[in-house]
Amino acid sequence: MTENIQPAEGKLGILIPGLGAVGTTLIAGVISVNKGLSQPIGALTQMGNIRLGKRTENRYPLIKDFVPLANLKDIVFGGWDVYSDNVFESAMNAKVLEPMLLHAVKPELEAIKPMKAVFDKAYIKNLDGTNIKEAANKYELAKMLAADIENFKEANGCSRVVIVWCGSTEKYIEPSAVHETLAAFEEGLKNNDPAIAPSMIYAYAALKLGVPFANGAPNLTVDIPALIELAKETETPIAGKDFKTGQTLMKTILAPGLQARALGVRGWFSTNILGNRDGLVLDDPDNFKTKEVSKLSVLEDILQPDINPELYGDLYHKVRINYYPPHGDNKESWDNIDIFGWLGYSMQIKINFLCRDSILAAPIVLDLALFMDLAKRANMSGIQEWLSFYFKSPQTAPELRPEHDIFKQLIKLQNTLRHMMGEDLITHLGLDYYQDLVEAL
Ligand SMILES: NC(=O)c1ccc[n+]([C@@H]2O[C@H](COP(=O)([O-])OP(=O)(O)OC[C@H]3O[C@@H](n4cnc5c(N)ncnc54)[C@H](O)[C@@H]3O)[C@@H](O)[C@H]2O)c1
Repeated sequence: MTENIQPAEGKLGILIPGLGAVGTTLIAGVISVNKGLSQPIGALTQMGNIRLGKRTENRYPLIKDFVPLANLKDIVFGGWDVYSDNVFESAMNAKVLEPMLLHAVKPELEAIKPMKAVFDKAYIKNLDGTNIKEAANKYELAKMLAADIENFKEANGCSRVVIVWCGSTEKYIEPSAVHETLAAFEEGLKNNDPAIAPSMIYAYAALKLGVPFANGAPNLTVDIPALIELAKETETPIAGKDFKTGQTLMKTILAPGLQARALGVRGWFSTNILGNRDGLVLDDPDNFKTKEVSKLSVLEDILQPDINPELYGDLYHKVRINYYPPHGDNKESWDNIDIFGWLGYSMQIKINFLCRDSILAAPIVLDLALFMDLAKRANMSGIQEWLSFYFKSPQTAPELRPEHDIFKQLIKLQNTLRHMMGEDLITHLGLDYYQDLVEAL
């Protein structure tokens, strides 16, 4: 497949709807890395290695030296927000990165001003911005976004553009008839159908232009048949949803381990406090519902109570998020896990994770942008299930169960890269090493 991948020539535009805590932490981070001030820790594309061939070959290149990814120096950032603060002001407000670091990249950050957003309070009650587009209907809004994308590309001399949604979580929307086909969706755009949320309008505009779209929030957005159809039609990669950070990251690291050892799980109680704008938005029950659905699916899918009822049939799983302003972006989470082992004897695990939400999310946005651009150049269109590694609620083909186990997700991601580059897939069987030894004796 290697010969089919277009080289990463020219500049890559990364456009971000939602220049809040995560978006600004990414942008400030990449600029500071490019200035030699920091390291891109947590980004697999920058710091991760991949094993190639047999263990005896000792080949472990960096992923960025193995697959043709855009260079960080070739990235140009832009985006939209409902607030008109430039990226420096927004990053200062978000209080994720310390002022000293932000001042070191201030001119670059100040130069990035958000374009007017497509926004509607009906989907996010707790925000009140004024940097908002106006048009007769949602179809016209989509055309305005498409014009933004094309203008940005031209003004910045980009050869390619990708979009990663870092906007707030919208209220919960059930999939309905307007999401079923592209024709119904386009009709719905023209009729201002309330089941078409702003994030879907961004996605529609991007996909129409063949611009890859990844969704970092738990919103439905591209996870609907109409936009999957459009992605296929325009041969565009899509991926989602909800960045896997914090508590869910821990859950998908720990739960596969318990299941691997056939240990039972009776209860998993997870609670969080966070005080950033994301926390404020999630304080509204309609918006929390979207997040809750995304967070709850993880455990059931890893433990599979239906195929192992003795160990997981009585699992009680509860997730709570509480808005607590004093903690800002420094989310704190507690998990109480009731497990049982040999002969049914019970044990408990307690986790208290003092994390930094946007510090965990920013490298995910970078990896997604670079891998989505790679996918596009490799002619991989539609749902990119190999990027499940990055999501709480991975988008899959409708008939498939999503894989939540982070280790299986990593194997899939790495094997996809090996496949793209014409390297042998690694099955971890390894019997051949011993067979060779026996024959050599
Ligand atoms: N930080 C994490 O670890 C994490 C993990 C998973 C998912 N997420 C999701 O990522 C998103 C961003 O998180 P954050 O902490 O940066 O939140 P944030 O509130 O700091 O930033 C979101 C920004 O999006 C803007 N926005 C809202 N609707 C918009 C629209 N229609 N168009 C353009 N801009 C819009 C808001 O004004 C805000 O500035 C949220 O949906 C959050 O749930 C974050």
